[in-house]
Amino acid sequence: MPNKELVPVITVDGPSGSGKGTICQRLAQQMEWHFLDSGALYRLTALAAHHHGISTEDEESIKVVAAHLDVQFLTDQSAGIKIVLEGEEVTDSIRAEKIGLDASTVAAIPAVREALLQRQRDFAVEPGLIADGRDMGTVVFPEACLKVFLDASAEERASRRYKQLISKGVSASLEDILLDIKARDERDMNRTVSPLKPAPDAVILDTTKMSIEEVLEVVLDEAKHKGLR
Ligand code: DC
Repeated sequence: MPNKELVPVITVDGPSGSGKGTICQRLAQQMEWHFLDSGALYRLTALAAHHHGISTEDEESIKVVAAHLDVQFLTDQSAGIKIVLEGEEVTDSIRAEKIGLDASTVAAIPAVREALLQRQRDFAVEPGLIADGRDMGTVVFPEACLKVFLDASAEERASRRYKQLISKGVSASLEDILLDIKARDERDMNRTVSPLKPAPDAVILDTTKMSIEEVLEVVLDEAKHKGLR
């Protein structure tokens, strides 16, 4: 059994659209560490429930779905990480807005969070882990070496998401995205279990006016100060 206590972890938490995903993937590449996309686990739970005809309100059944998720994260050199659920590739389908909203509903169920806790901690293997989520620094990896909390205004986050969708050729409404982001923030910040909030020892960065490169530079500097690179 590897001693998980010794595996270095950098946690990056924050609301949807704060740039966590991009920053974490770049950090993982540069440091040659593993990457945990914890939001994907909640999205996969929502999608698996949908596949099995289970309502997101049916807490007992959703808990069972989360505990038995049959998922593989495959590293694909050209396309990043490929996600396979019950034998089917779902890398893109879990990103749908509807799945994001359902993920936020299932993530508010304490038994679902409990069911996914150990699975997340198992990602911490040598040489280190970059963990992306909402409660990485507060609940899942409270002993992390470096904790970062990325924030940005709801308007800026909606605009980033809008540009991302348009660049993929997906039609989108900026107004609807902003409403979705606000609804999700409200649910993620006000739930009773593991609400979205910075750990007391987190480095908080408002990325509203920062580029990806600038954020990356600040986080890499912090990692250097901690002797992590
Ligand atoms: O980061 P994301 O948009 O893929 O996350 C999808 C949903 O999952 C989000 O609305 C909140 C939830 N989530 C969570 O509650 N805890 C995490 N560690 C990660 C995501």
